[in-house]
Amino acid sequence: MKIFNSVKEWKKELSQLKSEGLSLGFVPTMGALHEGHASLFKESLKDNDRTLVSIFLNPTQFDNREDLNNYPSSYEEDIKILEDLKVDYLFSPAYEELYRDNYRYSCRENKLSQILCGAARPGHFDGVLTVVMKLLNIGGAQKAYFGEKDYQQYLLIKEMAQTFFLETEIVPCPLIREKDGLALSSRNRRLSSEARQLAPTFYGLLNSGSSREKIKKDLSKAGFKVDYIEDYHMRRFGAVYLEEVRLIDNVPLR
Ligand code: PAF
Repeated sequence: MKIFNSVKEWKKELSQLKSEGLSLGFVPTMGALHEGHASLFKESLKDNDRTLVSIFLNPTQFDNREDLNNYPSSYEEDIKILEDLKVDYLFSPAYEELYRDNYRYSCRENKLSQILCGAARPGHFDGVLTVVMKLLNIGGAQKAYFGEKDYQQYLLIKEMAQTFFLETEIVPCPLIREKDGLALSSRNRRLSSEARQLAPTFYGLLNSGSSREKIKKDLSKAGFKVDYIEDYHMRRFGAVYLEEVRLIDNVPLR
């Protein structure tokens, strides 16, 4: 796998790829890779001649410094996962490379980004959309893959790509769950073994078909701190805290 830290060096490789007529798929990540990410890489590897993955822990999408500092990181293991899967390229820039403007410029959506996860995390989706706009422009891929676990993020990125006439097609990939139903997430690593045992109850209740009020009550009783349980776009969305770890999930509405 070839690793790039500089936009200029990657662009040189990209021109070469294009001159050879090879197709490129792209999966942006923040690292701490797991099977959910691997499913996106596999989809891209299947669909394209070459696959690019980025690892960049994007500070502008964290509304809370502690959450950023506690975000898991496992660069060496991540490289091994990418190499084992035969991913072709890794783009792993420093903050200064990606944010040469020090975040003076940003992308902002002012409706969907303000509800669900956006309501409790001010500026979160501005940070996500800004970094994804940068990464899609740098990546230069025909297709980019995003997981449906972050369904609100996927919708916002898809609409941003349409709105700004980006050339990259945004491809959704199904949410991957542990056997006990817990949605895969890098944040799951931060759960104690006790909390990890309790965590699948979140999915169980979200998918129970009960009223939103009853789900909230049952979650609180079970020991979760509920941020929201909301229905939107034919899906039921939820966010909870377990031991200060934020878990999100969504299921098709029954
Ligand atoms: O879903 C993520 O991992 C991040 O929000 C993304 C899309 C890589 C942007 O930093």
